[in-house]
Amino acid sequence: QPTLADLAQRHGRYFGSATDNPELVDGPYKALLGSEFDQITPGNGMKWYATEPQQGVFDFSHGDEIVNLARANRQKVRGHTLVWHSQLPEWLTSREWTAPELRAVLKKHIQTEVRHYRGKVFAWDVVNEAFNEDGTYRESVFYKTLGPGYIADALRWAHQADPRVKLYLNDYNIEATGPKSDAYYRLAKELKAAGVPLHGIGLQTHLALQYGYPTTLEDNLRRFSRLGLDTALTEVDIRMQLPATEEKLAQQAEWYAGVTEACLAVRRCVGITIWDYTDKYSWIPAVFPGEGAALPWDEELRRKPAYFALREAL
Ligand code: XIL
Repeated sequence: QPTLADLAQRHGRYFGSATDNPELVDGPYKALLGSEFDQITPGNGMKWYATEPQQGVFDFSHGDEIVNLARANRQKVRGHTLVWHSQLPEWLTSREWTAPELRAVLKKHIQTEVRHYRGKVFAWDVVNEAFNEDGTYRESVFYKTLGPGYIADALRWAHQADPRVKLYLNDYNIEATGPKSDAYYRLAKELKAAGVPLHGIGLQTHLALQYGYPTTLEDNLRRFSRLGLDTALTEVDIRMQLPATEEKLAQQAEWYAGVTEACLAVRRCVGITIWDYTDKYSWIPAVFPGEGAALPWDEELRRKPAYFALREAL
C-alpha cells in the first residue's frame, strides 16, 4: 500500500506532518510519522523562545532532535519560524528596544539559526503572521520598532546566512483571496520587484467547518505562481465543533481532498504539511475550546475518512 508521501511524490510534491519533541516518546506515533510522510516541520522546537532562551545564548537541541529524526527517516524539514510576534522569549518582550538595538538582535537571531540549520532544512518560514485580517500590518514589536522594512531585512539576512534555502512568508486565513491574502500579493510583488530574496508563500490552512470552504484557493495559489513564487500548504488542519459526527467527518474529508486537489492543480504548489497527523497531538482543543477532531488520524491513531479522501485525491 502506497503512503501519502509515495502518492504525493508521483506528482513531484511532498506530503508532510508537523511534530513536536514531547510526542517522540510515543512509539506507535513515531513509527507512523516516520513511514507515512516525506517531510516534517517542528511544531515548536525552532521558535525563538526555544532557540534563544537568553539573549545571545542559543539552544538548538529541540530542533536538532527533529532534524536528526528526519534524517533517519529520509524526510525533508521545513524550518519554522524565525520572526513571529508569538512565542518570543521573555528577555525580548519584557523591555523596550531602540530600533538599532532590535535590528541587531533580529539579525543575530536570524543568522545564527539559519547558519545552524544550513543544508538541514530546505525552506524557512522567515516571517510568520505579519498581517492583520484587514490587510494592515500586525503591530508586532518588530513592526512597531522597525517599520515594515523589517520583512525585507529579515529575508536578506536569512539569504546571506544560507543562499540556497527557500525563504517563505507564512500566514493563516490567506487561503482565499481577500484583504489579508491581497496584502501578501502586493507585498510579494513589491519585494520581487526590489530584488529581495523571497521564494514562496506559505498558506497555513487552519480551516474550520463552521467558517466555510475557501473556494478561491486554487486561483489564489495561481496568482502567487505568476509572481514567480512557490506556494505550500504549511499547517493544514480542519477543525469542527465537537462532538464529531459522521456528517462532519465526511465534510472534513471532502475539504481535505479539496485543498489537496487545489495544490496539485497548480504546478508551483510544492507540497502539503498537516499540523501533526493525529487528533492525539493536535493544538486545536487547547486553543479553540469545544473544537477539535481536526486531523486525518483520530486519537487512537486510527485512520479517519479524511485520510482515505487524501489517498483518493493524491
Ligand atoms: C502552535 C503549536 O502547535 C502549539 O504547540 C503551540 O502551543 C502554539 O503554536 N500557527 C503557527 C504555528 O504558525 O506555529 C502554531 O503552532 C499554530 C498556528
